[in-house]
Amino acid sequence: MNQLINFDENNKVFHLHNDQISYLLAVEDGNTLAHVYFGKTIKQYHGQLRYPRVDRGFSGNLPGSLDRTFSRDSLPKEYSTAGEMDYHTPAAVVRQKDGSNALFLTYQDYKIVAGKPDLAGLPHSFVENNDEAETLIVNLLDEKSKVEFELAYTIYRDRPVITRSVKVVNKGEETVNIEKVASMQIDFVDRNFESITLPGAHAHERRVERSEINQGIHVYSSHRGTSSHQMNPFMALVDKDTTEFSGDAYGFAFVYSGNHKFEVEKDQFAQTHVNIGIDDFNFSWELTPNSSFQTPEVLMTYSAQGLNKMSQAFHTLIHDRVIRSKYKDRVRPILVNNWEATYFNFDEEKLKPIVDDAKEMGIEMFVLDDGWFGHRDDDNSSLGDWSVFEKKFPHGLDHFADYVHEQGLKFGLWFEPEMISMDSNLYQEHPDYLMHVPGRTPSPSRNQYVLDLGRKEVRDNIFEQMNKILESGKIDYIKWDMNRHLSDIYEADLPAARQGETYHRYVLGLYDLLERLVNSYPDLLIEGCSGGGGRFDAGMAYYNPQIWASDDSDAIDRLSIQYGTSLAYPQSMMTSHVSVSPNEQNGRITPLKTRGIVAMWGDLGYELDLTKMSKEDRQAVKEQVAEYKKIREVTQYGTFYRLKSAQTSNQCAWETVSKDKTEAVLSVVKVMASAQPYLTKTKMVGLAPEKHYEDQNTHEVYGGDELMNLGIYDPVEHGDFKAYIYHFKAID
Ligand code: GLA
Repeated sequence: MNQLINFDENNKVFHLHNDQISYLLAVEDGNTLAHVYFGKTIKQYHGQLRYPRVDRGFSGNLPGSLDRTFSRDSLPKEYSTAGEMDYHTPAAVVRQKDGSNALFLTYQDYKIVAGKPDLAGLPHSFVENNDEAETLIVNLLDEKSKVEFELAYTIYRDRPVITRSVKVVNKGEETVNIEKVASMQIDFVDRNFESITLPGAHAHERRVERSEINQGIHVYSSHRGTSSHQMNPFMALVDKDTTEFSGDAYGFAFVYSGNHKFEVEKDQFAQTHVNIGIDDFNFSWELTPNSSFQTPEVLMTYSAQGLNKMSQAFHTLIHDRVIRSKYKDRVRPILVNNWEATYFNFDEEKLKPIVDDAKEMGIEMFVLDDGWFGHRDDDNSSLGDWSVFEKKFPHGLDHFADYVHEQGLKFGLWFEPEMISMDSNLYQEHPDYLMHVPGRTPSPSRNQYVLDLGRKEVRDNIFEQMNKILESGKIDYIKWDMNRHLSDIYEADLPAARQGETYHRYVLGLYDLLERLVNSYPDLLIEGCSGGGGRFDAGMAYYNPQIWASDDSDAIDRLSIQYGTSLAYPQSMMTSHVSVSPNEQNGRITPLKTRGIVAMWGDLGYELDLTKMSKEDRQAVKEQVAEYKKIREVTQYGTFYRLKSAQTSNQCAWETVSKDKTEAVLSVVKVMASAQPYLTKTKMVGLAPEKHYEDQNTHEVYGGDELMNLGIYDPVEHGDFKAYIYHFKAID
């Protein structure tokens, strides 16, 4: 096997490379670790093309040096810190015993290991065998305090991917406080980038935003305690002319579900400096001698062929090497969820006909959503009391689960494990479990509060309660929800000086709870959720192979939500449901066909009262379900392409092609209708040009090159929100 990482001793250059990408870093004057290059693979790097020496006013020099041409302020670096002569926003800030933030990191040594070491307690990308990746660990040390930073870089053999993380080790004799620690930094010279980010709001997640980067610091962050609806932990840097199919695209996804901060700084020399890590807002970490702090990891991809290629690299990486669930390669069950069908107003008798209808329509799982536990008839009570609400299920939950199973459906159940209502037995018994600052009244949100999940005692209590429900063996799936963000930040087990650890300890507590759950119930399908897509990130993917993309189920809004989501996350991770029209969130009226087609681009489900549907609609749902069963292998696991965006045009077109190019699915949604419309075509991509493909509905046959070069005329039809789906199979 070829080596993936080399060290050139003479030039002191590390080269991480495979057939697609190269990443170069070098040890420069004063043992400074410099960034040299990240991009298209370089086979013959001789070590001479380095950052030039220039005397720059107001960018100072190495301590004790008379050389005015070398400055750690202008040099592209791998890791900048506060307290040295570098005015960029620092990747790390460490408060020393003397009160200063002085930290001067110098290169010490390195190690190259086969494969990829695990990050204890944190989600991370992994390898299945040690041949598929190599990891470089570079040690940087602050001589005075003996605080060491271990920078870890992994390169995969067959992916355009580098992963990065940092471990801080206190090898000194004094306790220090970390006030900021990014998982990575990268500096680019002579790039006029734009950033692409995924901001949003509840029921309005992950809209694509493309912005110019001017001199100054641009921050994309969350300090809500979770990765958030408001700013997804993903960013791409692209050239101005980069499109879906051409140009450079650098992608960054943070494998973390709590506060995050993406900083992009265009400096005085138009160099672009990037830090990604845990947000330093209300963050500090006490590092006693001999202890260490491990940051979460960042996944970085490079594409020379635009955004689709970048997304495909993330899709396969997250699917193959972040998601661990047994379900990762199984087609996902089509479900019906009772939330929008009944909200809290249900009991066993009301649900049974929905189950019966689901069976008749070919649906494969019934999910019992919020309101089955404690005495929960609305959202004011019972979070924290995970035992069945007997008024709604007089014969118990097992009895109802049996009924669902007898109809041949799987049974799924909703939980919101991180929360507590004041009106609950849990609060009566353990008021201290509710996260609050002593002596202050905590703020409610949806009239509920967050558990102090950093405490093991709290996690044990919740795990035991969930265990009692799950050990019956009758639950096939759970939906793990989280319906508010953190406030009143305080962990009861920590002393005053360490309260800055609370946010991160909460996330570590969450991961611990999820880890226990996936280890105890490896056959359980877990769907993540946080008021829709409020925690849709690569960290949660490690535990939850699928996540509810948004509480907004309107097909037209979903065009943008799912479009943005697909920039980083695979189709199989995104759940998407057909709901009623007019839509409950925005009142829009759309055809059932369109709702079905849009929902088929994720893991399909239904979220409406099936018993109230007209005869025609019931028949249409049956047909949708049957159609989806034919295409889901390809829509969930094929190579995905964005062809047209509804954010920038009147159409949205998506395509997926099986790995062997023998099958493809294409859909086109026309948003607004117009009189005398211009004719439009949709050209497919990624097919085998020499193959012949048969449309599975019309049985017409087309050449692969015909579909790609000539394209299909989009139908002309009256009415807004019309959608079309095509399923092609190659014929011999
Ligand atoms: C959140 C979820 C919904 C539903 C409700 C129940 O908003 O996103 O799907 O489960 O909670 O309270």
